[in-house]
Amino acid sequence: MHTGRHFLQIPGPTNVPDRVLRAIDRPTIDHRGPEFAELGKEVLAGMKAVFKTTHPVIIYPASGTGAWEAALVNTLSPGDQVLMAETGQFAMLWRRLAERLGLTVELIPSDWRHGADPTAIQARLVADRNHAIKAVAVVHNETSTGCVTRVPEVRAALDRSRHPALLMVDTISSLASVDFRMDEWGVDLTVGGSQKGLMLPPGLSFNAVGPRALAASKQARLPRSYWSWEEMLGPNASGFFPYTPATNLLFGLREGLAMLQEEGLEQVFARHDRHAEATREVVFAGGLEVLCADPREYSSSLTAVVMPEGHDADKVRRIILERFDMSLGTGLGKLQGKVFRIGHLGHFNDLMLAGTLCGVEMGLKLAGVPLRGSGVQAALERLAQA
Ligand SMILES: Cc1ncc(COP(=O)(O)O)c(C=O)c1O
Repeated sequence: MHTGRHFLQIPGPTNVPDRVLRAIDRPTIDHRGPEFAELGKEVLAGMKAVFKTTHPVIIYPASGTGAWEAALVNTLSPGDQVLMAETGQFAMLWRRLAERLGLTVELIPSDWRHGADPTAIQARLVADRNHAIKAVAVVHNETSTGCVTRVPEVRAALDRSRHPALLMVDTISSLASVDFRMDEWGVDLTVGGSQKGLMLPPGLSFNAVGPRALAASKQARLPRSYWSWEEMLGPNASGFFPYTPATNLLFGLREGLAMLQEEGLEQVFARHDRHAEATREVVFAGGLEVLCADPREYSSSLTAVVMPEGHDADKVRRIILERFDMSLGTGLGKLQGKVFRIGHLGHFNDLMLAGTLCGVEMGLKLAGVPLRGSGVQAALERLAQA
């Protein structure tokens, strides 16, 4: 039996603010009526600001996996080649999905400690003289590792190799947490989800569709029906959806967007950066490692902590859950038992982080993980800086 609030510090789904919960807790309205049209128009426009795009955003009543599938089936044809980078478990899952759809995926291997490598992408594109590769698909913030792909450098790799492939980016765990600029960075197609930086429950996902992706969708031959952009864009123009939308989640989205706007996206990113820095302070002071090997690629939405040899990350997580009622992210795929992940994204503040970091440090001690020192004091000092 636990008292007080549960600490949900997995890297998504994240804590849902009371304001969003209250917004969802309303009678469902007629999704073919005038009140809905206003809601639809408002959230479709609001999402453009979050993606930093002037192009259309599609909202699916689906988890992020649906938006992954939508991105591929709308733009590609059977047998098309896609270049992906093995940043971690989510990149591997996107690849598996693509292969199941009948696409041919070439994977640039990596050690799960880096973002996608722009140099390796460029080398592969330069070698592809006949332009057989139709899309380059990367995960911006790899949620399984806490490594960020430097998207502008990937764009530069495409430009330098004068390759016409579409650039697709998964921002499911970076959107509204880590800076992302779809139009400025020349991203053709962006995938997003509701349950992380947008501070909503799971259940909505997004495709932001640039003009080159839209043009590709006119020629693409993979079968699609539920995911069809064309079906969506018609009714979306007047705020409606071709099938029953997730009305109450859209009430929540309107509120979440209002909160992001009130704080200001740049402040939202700065807050995530500070919290990530304070988190790393605790990890490093304890003499532990973060999984991400390149400081330029540290994630501001989550930190994956590497266990010393002979210590099981899931045991630490279990102790922290039982003793302090805090959920931390498990190691995914080949990282099972080797890392645990601290989510510090979404609806979050300094004291929630302070509590989280105290729980992590106490849990590590209880699990018998040798720590060089305590980083909590240093983290608190960083948080207390003006
Ligand atoms: C980066 C990334 N991509 C894709 C997904 C898959 O999304 P979902 O589990 O909502 O289907 C996730 C889920 O955590 C993710 O973090």
